[in-house]
Amino acid sequence: MYTVPKLTNFSSAALDAAARDLLSALEAEAAAIRGDSEYKVFRDRWLARKDGVNELKTKITVVVEATLERLQGGASADRLLAERVDITLPGIRRPLGTEHPVIRTMNEIVGVFRNLGYSVSEGPEIETDYSNFESLNFPPHHPARDMQDTLFLAGQDEKALRDRLLLRTHTSPVQIRTMEKLKPPLRIVIPGKVYRNDPPDASHSPVFHQIEGLAVDNNIRFGDLKGTLDHAMKALFGSKVKTQFRPSFFPFTEPSAEMMVSCFICGGSGKRGREPCRPCKTTGWIEILGCGMVDPNVFEFVKDNGYDPAKVSGFAFGMGADRIAILKYGVDDIQLFFQGDVRFLQQFG
Ligand code: DAH
Repeated sequence: MYTVPKLTNFSSAALDAAARDLLSALEAEAAAIRGDSEYKVFRDRWLARKDGVNELKTKITVVVEATLERLQGGASADRLLAERVDITLPGIRRPLGTEHPVIRTMNEIVGVFRNLGYSVSEGPEIETDYSNFESLNFPPHHPARDMQDTLFLAGQDEKALRDRLLLRTHTSPVQIRTMEKLKPPLRIVIPGKVYRNDPPDASHSPVFHQIEGLAVDNNIRFGDLKGTLDHAMKALFGSKVKTQFRPSFFPFTEPSAEMMVSCFICGGSGKRGREPCRPCKTTGWIEILGCGMVDPNVFEFVKDNGYDPAKVSGFAFGMGADRIAILKYGVDDIQLFFQGDVRFLQQFG
């Protein structure tokens, strides 16, 4: 262990040499310190010295503190100097993504219904014939079950019809899936991807998006359907739009309707200045969704879970999210949504 020598020669060269010896002894001891108790002894021995010259004391303090830092795993002054960050350098630009226009439209629609107390339900994109067709009251030879319209999975021929797998053609099967799990009353919206055997063109795509809705309770009437959807359309397209219901047919609703919204592009006039309004084909109305009162035959499939058609009633609706996004943003080709061209998508940033 180092002890301070008694000096006899006080020339500056001799003093320098003595100081060097002292400092290298300090460094050597410091390097050997492992653990707290050794450190304390070391610190007290070196810092309590009365025989140190002031200048030496400062240097000693530096080494002692660096030793503590090393023990604590902190950065040494040297390392800090080497790794210094130049905060004046320009940053690295990370381009921010934004919601895809179709996803944004879906979130908006879901938001409108969330505000009305609806929850969100989801289901698989690969479905059984049972959920996609049978339990929704589609007869066995309905054209939608044809290979021309629906994409079936290969190798299903051995299975019973109801077990065959296909890509869901609409979000409606999630109606039955949710009613199998949850008892009434029920209020849900179902956003998701759906698939049809359609060749792509400006208004068709083999994959597109729908938002489905379902409300079931003890005393739901057609007026509830109209009031709810009229409110939703005003929330989405502005308080001035009007709605109109026209008779239609779907296997899973009775009665069924298609809902028209007064054209929010031309304000319902059918004209834009002197030009004809294209989105509403000059009619002043745009077809937005299909809807209706849930057919009692559908409730029969989930009767055992509290959906006795004699006791409950409900309404359902389904709309195409891509089509609504096309109308909202004035896009003239649905393919643009799926090509991933950044120049197109950046316009919605
Ligand atoms: N599933 C229908 C389709 O894809 C849309 C639809 C119509 C859904 C009426 C509904 C409804 O829930 O009640 O064309």
